[in-house]
Amino acid sequence: MTDKTLIDLSWDDFDEHRDPRPDSNEFDAVVERAVSRRGFLGGALAFGSGAAVFGTGLLSSTTASRAAAHGGFAFTPIDIATDHEIHVPEGYQHKVLVRWGDALWSEADGAYDNGVSVEMSDKVFGENTDGMELFDVDGREVIAVNSEYVNPKINLPEASEGVPQSAEEVALLKNLQGVTIMEIAKSEDGYQVVKDSPLNRRITHETEMVLEGPLAGHDLVKTNADPEGRTVKGTMNNCGSGRTLWGTYLTCEENFNGYFGTTGAEPEGEGYSRYGIGGEGRYAYEKFDARFDLSKEPNEPHRHGYVTEIDPANPDSTPVKRTALGRIKHENAAMVHASDGRVVVYMGDDERGEFLYKYVSNGTWAEGQDGGDLLNDGTLYAAKFNDDMTGEWLALTPETTGMDAAEILVFTRMAASAVGATTMDRPEWVAVNPLKAEAYVALTNNRNRGVKPNAGGDETPVNGPNPRETNNFGQIARWRPEGDNHAADGFAWDLYVMAGNPTVYDNAYGGSDNINEGNMFNSPDGMVFSSDGMLWIQTDGDDDNEGEFAGMGNNQMLVGNPETGEIARFMTVPNGAEVTGLCWSLDKTVAFVGVQHPGGQWPDNAGKPRSSVVAVWREDGATIG
Ligand code: FEO
Ligand code: CA
Ligand code: CA
Repeated sequence: MTDKTLIDLSWDDFDEHRDPRPDSNEFDAVVERAVSRRGFLGGALAFGSGAAVFGTGLLSSTTASRAAAHGGFAFTPIDIATDHEIHVPEGYQHKVLVRWGDALWSEADGAYDNGVSVEMSDKVFGENTDGMELFDVDGREVIAVNSEYVNPKINLPEASEGVPQSAEEVALLKNLQGVTIMEIAKSEDGYQVVKDSPLNRRITHETEMVLEGPLAGHDLVKTNADPEGRTVKGTMNNCGSGRTLWGTYLTCEENFNGYFGTTGAEPEGEGYSRYGIGGEGRYAYEKFDARFDLSKEPNEPHRHGYVTEIDPANPDSTPVKRTALGRIKHENAAMVHASDGRVVVYMGDDERGEFLYKYVSNGTWAEGQDGGDLLNDGTLYAAKFNDDMTGEWLALTPETTGMDAAEILVFTRMAASAVGATTMDRPEWVAVNPLKAEAYVALTNNRNRGVKPNAGGDETPVNGPNPRETNNFGQIARWRPEGDNHAADGFAWDLYVMAGNPTVYDNAYGGSDNINEGNMFNSPDGMVFSSDGMLWIQTDGDDDNEGEFAGMGNNQMLVGNPETGEIARFMTVPNGAEVTGLCWSLDKTVAFVGVQHPGGQWPDNAGKPRSSVVAVWREDGATIG
């Protein structure tokens, strides 16, 4: 495969390219096991209140939209769309807040001209917006937003054909990713970025940061440029987000492996192969920057793949990579204050057949306390889901894994395999219900489920919360911790929803009972609870509206009622885009929604498509989150 086709792959396809798995020759046995395991789905649910996922027929497929309008949703659900526009319910408005290339400082005014120069590339809003959080900084509203990756065919001169041809072009790509921190304020014209605010900041692949926690100073993270193993440049592939109890931002490093390549010898060992590290980098960084060349800096990839903490109130602060939370392809980081006072962070590792994790601090936190150190000292766990709808968190320790404490944090995936955690259908965002002790994980899809061996290496290709082979639709699982304590080892689980297409299938691929013609979708990904206890679900799936996806239309944002199981479509985004990232203004009257990799010419109707953050509000000014 040449460079020029590599950058056309989705990150999921890139994983497959890095780690092609042979077809299992036990396919018949796999299918048989899947079918027999499907039996438990019809059984009793562990959760009494019952979202009626399976079996109770809460909603008929034809009346769902209307039911939703009367079912606790403050809006009338909308139809699917297949165009290049945004649609929101009647009585709501939307407007772009900021687009890729928009100036954060006056010096970058007009910098965007169907692209951005390298000189201006760290003074504008980055490309491919993802997770975001809004903070109250002394009454000012400050948003921290991830820019997950770049589309080099959009950013680079046409002659480059999507592959950097110089160090300067690499620098351009490095600057348009990372994190943007920006003040926003309401004007007569709605929310706008406050240009030149002293709180504005860009964090890129070159920004200096530090490693803290058990790996700081360890041999595995030492490089030529950093022989002490304590200072790192850059946070990369910043996917989902999180916020700490003490008011800082968590940015999550997902497909970091794709930035590394080699100009010489291939790195060897499971520590590389399990993470898809090797071969050529997606953006040819290694050809122009030795830091990304595995033959020269084999430890550099050990310094990425973490949850990184940033103080949005202090633009001079140094971001901190929290190594105690493990090194995986971090989707987001959902922090919750456990009832026993400890700090818990739930985290998904987004690759087919990888795991769901949680971190539990050793110390406790109390209101008003700074908590950074609590993320340096704790225990990492991986989830095991049993088919009887119980589950347990398996501690990753030297005793349970046979690995030393540092290896567990650098090679966390291998540690979780060692304890027999449950391989999952690509865990994306975790969301914690603010009104009860309960958490949800979006399992976006897994086309290899039951077809090829799981990356995580278990012997049950189809398992409890991942019940369908060739799972192109995805599902959302949830759990309640024992004793309502998120720090507890045990939990009960069920599926909140199995996405599917009831107009095409009358089996498990038709979805759970809370899926109908009026609300169907595929590939749940972003997921955030609003303060009123509603679950906002964002999709990143197949939007061609054909075949088994017919009737699902463009990617969308839906709202789920955790109590009744009802789900209603709130928003659709332009064809080609995924919806990802969601936060609200301090007064909760405006939702900010991320639109990543749009197609067509959205939003300018001229030139290139531009990933953007969109403000959505009710015409009557009522709260919406
Ligand atoms: Fe960046 Fe798994 O989404
Ligand atoms: Ca995602
Ligand atoms: Ca996704």
